[in-house]
Amino acid sequence: MPRPIIDAESAQGEPKLSTLRRLGPYLWPAGQPALKLRVLLAVVFLIAAKAVTVYTPFFYKDAVDALSGSDADALYLPLALIASYGLARFMALVFAELRDMAFIRVGQSAVRRIALTTFEHLHNLSLRFHLERRTGGLSRSIERGTRAIDFMLRFMLFSIIPTLIELALVTAIFHVHFGWVFSLSLAGAISAYMVFTFSITEWRIKFRREMNKQDSAANTKAIDSLLNYETVKYFGNEAHEAERFNVALLGYQEAAVRSQLSLSLLNVGQSLVINSGLILVMYLAASAYLEGTITIGDFVLANTLLIQLFIPLNFLGFVYREIKQSLVDMEQLFSLLDKNQEVADKPDARPIVLDGARIEFRDVVFRYEDRTILDGITFEVPAGETVAVVGPSGAGKSTISRILFRFYDIASGSVTIDGQDIRDVTQQSLRGAIGIVPQDTVLFNDTIDYNIRYGRPDASDEEVREAARHAQIEAFVAKLPDGYESMVGERGLKLSGGEKQRVAIARTILKNPAILLLDEATSALDTNTEREIQSALAEISEGRTSLIIAHRLSTIIDADQILVLDDGKIVERGGHEELLRLDGVYARMWARQQEAAEARARLATLESDRFVGETGA
Ligand SMILES: Nc1ncnc2c1ncn2[C@@H]1O[C@H](COP(=O)(O)OP(=O)(O)O)[C@@H](O)[C@H]1O
Ligand SMILES: [Mg+2]
Repeated sequence: MPRPIIDAESAQGEPKLSTLRRLGPYLWPAGQPALKLRVLLAVVFLIAAKAVTVYTPFFYKDAVDALSGSDADALYLPLALIASYGLARFMALVFAELRDMAFIRVGQSAVRRIALTTFEHLHNLSLRFHLERRTGGLSRSIERGTRAIDFMLRFMLFSIIPTLIELALVTAIFHVHFGWVFSLSLAGAISAYMVFTFSITEWRIKFRREMNKQDSAANTKAIDSLLNYETVKYFGNEAHEAERFNVALLGYQEAAVRSQLSLSLLNVGQSLVINSGLILVMYLAASAYLEGTITIGDFVLANTLLIQLFIPLNFLGFVYREIKQSLVDMEQLFSLLDKNQEVADKPDARPIVLDGARIEFRDVVFRYEDRTILDGITFEVPAGETVAVVGPSGAGKSTISRILFRFYDIASGSVTIDGQDIRDVTQQSLRGAIGIVPQDTVLFNDTIDYNIRYGRPDASDEEVREAARHAQIEAFVAKLPDGYESMVGERGLKLSGGEKQRVAIARTILKNPAILLLDEATSALDTNTEREIQSALAEISEGRTSLIIAHRLSTIIDADQILVLDDGKIVERGGHEELLRLDGVYARMWARQQEAAEARARLATLESDRFVGETGA
């Protein structure tokens, strides 16, 4: 069983704190002094904000003491203190905003770099990965992962650490200012609060995980269902699709409800602990005031410090849960980034050096999982010649082209181009040398012009038109209201199979490769158009090393050599006449196709006769 590459399920298990280390390079970006300076600035503003915040209540206390004192003519003192108090509160906010202003570029640049790295990495992963991926779930994982990183960068630096510092600072102030009974009571309340918060959060994190899992599942199903819009209609299965989607949504709903209920429980519990602590400390302060050991200002100070402390403390529960979840999301993203390229360039890989582009397959064995698809294939395409591959569906014909293109590496044997093993050259140069017209063409959801130009983005308009002419698509484009600027729809679905194939042929003509690979390139065309394009294809394969996979044998009778592939083995090879004389698999295929063609021709004559007869009558 191939394991699903990445989806919600892999978000299970205890998140590891070591994941945090991977944030380092983003928090302290190498070679980016401006960003480093911003981090330093942010830390300075952070410290300033915290210092001002913790000191602010003292202005308040002094003002209260000054007011309650008997020294009535010194009114300017409480006024000055009140002004300082207001200013300090204002400055605390200003410093916090300055901190964010300094840091925003660091965080956003990290998010951008991670998203870009992930995107590039995805394009480097093998075809195998992409055939197994679930687009909907994958895109959600990436989304959650980058969001988690953004969150972690901001909150680690600006919330957890500063809150811990503030807790320590305030406890110390209580100790120095009010004595050990106070500091101990406060420390006890804080500890109780933390223990309660962390244990409840541990318990309720599973609801959040379930939410994520169901969210990914719902998205996977929705995307897959929409991509299969036509199939859904063919079978009238809208209700079935809605039901499948609804199951995932219901799962999400259930998890979300539980998550919210448990959050309410957490909030009520936290408030209970906090306010019990508040009552305890304020009771102590009231007693101390009555005993005369502290002033009324001190009483107010204790209250202000506590209330001020409870804001970040309250936040801590939320942040703790988010951090645990972010770790999970980040791990998922990083595990995607750690996924090795299955087909990787060797460290000493060089660009391919072409000299006529002679292709040689020698004893090539290839397997999917444990199934042998190609079983000891040996053949050669001499420079500039054309070799055709024919055989029943599923014989392994397209696999040959995928191997030459190096979508997969082979199990044994070798594939060489001009004597260079394709595993020793860079994939970029190898693929640059090959032009493919695939069996199923998928287009970008953009204009016809964009899709043709994709073959060589720097081509001139004239070159694009020229390629379109060769691929016999000019006349079709001329009929469209927007011409070359017409949109082709998602995956090119607004075009017919034949039109898509002609766009694919045009862009390969534009690419002008040394090697041409046609994989049933004209299979979606009717016999007439096929014949027309055939001449264009013959023209572009002229003087180019070409490997042509065909199902209609009439299109390849001129090939220099024909390979008959069956069940992963080459069972016959030779020229058209030669293979007919052999009277084997090829000869039988030929006879069958000739019969079918004759039957079609007879039918066509019959119909045109009738047509003539009807109109004549
Ligand atoms: N990604 C894949 N994973 C597993 N099996 C595959 C995969 N792609 C193709 N196959 C199998 O390999 C065999 C050969 O496929 P292919 O080369 O596409 O045949 P064809 O000769 O029709 O072009 C088929 O039986 C197909 O089911
Ligand atoms: Mg095929």
